[in-house]
Amino acid sequence: MRRKIVAGNWKMNTVIQDGLDLAESVKKNAEKGLPENVMLILAPPFTHLAGLKNILPDNIGLAAQNCASEESGAFTGEVSAAMVASSGANYVIIGHSERRLYFKETDPELNKKIKLALASQLSPIFCCGENLHEREKGIHTEVVKKQIELGLSDIPEADFKRIIIAYEPVWAIGTGKTATPDQAQDMHLYIRTQIKEMYGEETAGNTSILYGGSCNPSNARELFANSDVDGGLIGGASLKADDFLAIARSF
Ligand code: 13P
Repeated sequence: MRRKIVAGNWKMNTVIQDGLDLAESVKKNAEKGLPENVMLILAPPFTHLAGLKNILPDNIGLAAQNCASEESGAFTGEVSAAMVASSGANYVIIGHSERRLYFKETDPELNKKIKLALASQLSPIFCCGENLHEREKGIHTEVVKKQIELGLSDIPEADFKRIIIAYEPVWAIGTGKTATPDQAQDMHLYIRTQIKEMYGEETAGNTSILYGGSCNPSNARELFANSDVDGGLIGGASLKADDFLAIARSF
């Protein structure tokens, strides 16, 4: 059975102490119980990773929001996959649309990041999704297909099994405009079918595909009710422990 995952992408929010307080609140609230087979992951800024590792229980995953596309060396300001792993994190978000858009990250570069993350024993959370223009033109499936083909090319099946996919339509991120449950289900099924073509039925069936984009406690239930929506990658609502946990309890 594939895992249900609710991951909080804090983006560039919270200084370290606020992040520790937020993680503590998430941990306390989670202790009250979660639906069966639901797992939480927190993705704070790099500076918070080691501190959060110290306070989080093993059943809450820890993710970086990015890693470098080079292994090591003279790349001032970059943080390598090995460094992320050495902080205690076990996941890394790769290919978020904000990285693609503002930092001009390309598909081949993302493919390098995925491979380096896997080599450092991290599980990548690979983001894909079309922008509004592409949705309106009706080319959203082609866009996502290409992102997956290029970003996840040339990954051995054993490694692919560690990858989590997050479908995040850019027009839904931070806009309050959520994809409808049907739009999410259609794209998730499309992505799963693509994985099936690449790796077969079993691997496709075991891959968790998360939805991201203005997911909140009021709309999570109808999104998560779809058979191919295995959870969410949550931005704004993950900055409030109660909202984040309410989303996790929407299964
Ligand atoms: P919001 O939940 O704030 O729309 O952000 C989604 C997102 O980008 C998560 O990675």
